[in-house]
Amino acid sequence: MKIFITGGAGYIGSHTCVELLKRQHDVLVFDNLVNSSIKSLDRIKVITNRELGFIKGDIRDTKTLKDAMKKFKPEIVIHFAGLKSVSQSVSDPLQYYDTNVYGSINLFNTMNEVGCNKIVFSSSATVYGREDNLPYNESSSVHPTNPYGRSKLIVENILRDWVNSNEHKQAICLRYFNPVGAHESGLIGENPLGIPNNIMPLISQVAAGIRPKLSIFGSDYKTRDGTGERDYVHVVDLALGHATVVEKINKLDVLQVLNLGTGKGTTVKELIETFEKASGKKIPIEFSKRRPGDVAQSWTDPRLAKNLLNLEFNRSVEDMCLDTWRWQSNNPDGYLSG
Ligand code: NAD
Ligand code: WQD
Repeated sequence: MKIFITGGAGYIGSHTCVELLKRQHDVLVFDNLVNSSIKSLDRIKVITNRELGFIKGDIRDTKTLKDAMKKFKPEIVIHFAGLKSVSQSVSDPLQYYDTNVYGSINLFNTMNEVGCNKIVFSSSATVYGREDNLPYNESSSVHPTNPYGRSKLIVENILRDWVNSNEHKQAICLRYFNPVGAHESGLIGENPLGIPNNIMPLISQVAAGIRPKLSIFGSDYKTRDGTGERDYVHVVDLALGHATVVEKINKLDVLQVLNLGTGKGTTVKELIETFEKASGKKIPIEFSKRRPGDVAQSWTDPRLAKNLLNLEFNRSVEDMCLDTWRWQSNNPDGYLSG
């Protein structure tokens, strides 16, 4: 298939490009590189021994977007492009709505103009927000607690209306849980610019000696060991999931929401212990206050993705740590490492 990938140079996008190219799809990446490096695309070519197209552009720039889509004539779009820091979204909400919501509307308008009717959208488990009955399933109530999460839910709702406007349209909203890990080659991985927001890049930077210690946010949650529990999912499993969604899209509803996660929770302490074993490095820790807005526990009910598409996310937390550490130790400065 001819697949147009917004944000394809980023963390999840680059891993997805690898799996799509391996399956012989034709890929064009559209990315303004605001949070990624063009080097990820060179590395994708090394891993797959295939070429992929790239246009540097912003999803809010109608002309560049339209020119790129008109020329490529995609059958489907995978829409990763967006800003993803919860804390930045609180301090600069308009920037988040501009990129994530206005940028998405611009993309959907352009798809209308070029006659592309199918989209896979990167949503987030953050839309569930409040801790309801675990595990979260696709029918759990949604109460995002920050502008980032609200921007994702707004786009999901826009897509709901978009598919209702025309019988040929189809939109798949994938709610990722906690993507971590890296490609087993050690050539591509998460490349945070500045201080990372998420735990895995923080752990790996502490292991590498870039940061002195890891702060554990809260030790009094009602979990096995008092620390927060999450559903970590290997980014390669997630990438394979996208390839399956694209290839089996006809099995899905016109507006399909799917949770992507393993269905298993791992606590912060367990993650650190597993990383220490995988890397052979000691991770110095300190306990600090709970982070505002954090829930104690989050994991998915994985049955819908399994039932509809036979999707299973089997890579273990050990694999996630080993692959993260390989990427970190081979590329101490991310893509700046050479
Ligand atoms: P990322 O920042 O690595 O990738 C996003 C890509 O989009 C980057 O390459 C960035 O340069 C590009 N981009 C940003 N704004 C753009 C714009 N205006 N025009 C064109 N390109 C633009 O993030 P990621 O972790 O790969 O996340 C991909 C998507 O998945 C995002 O939409 C994110 O919100 C969503 N998501 C991520 C996680 C996570 O924990 N990583 C979890 C749930 C959902
Ligand atoms: C995981 C656990 C923290 C950092 C976020 C977004 C969500 C999605 C994924 C995009 C929690 C603890 C963390 C640290 C810690 N992203 N922690 N010390 O908060 O589950 O989800 O990323 O859509 O929208 O909200 O992930 O990696 O930040 O935290 O103890 O320095 O690690 O309290 O229990 P989170 P995270």
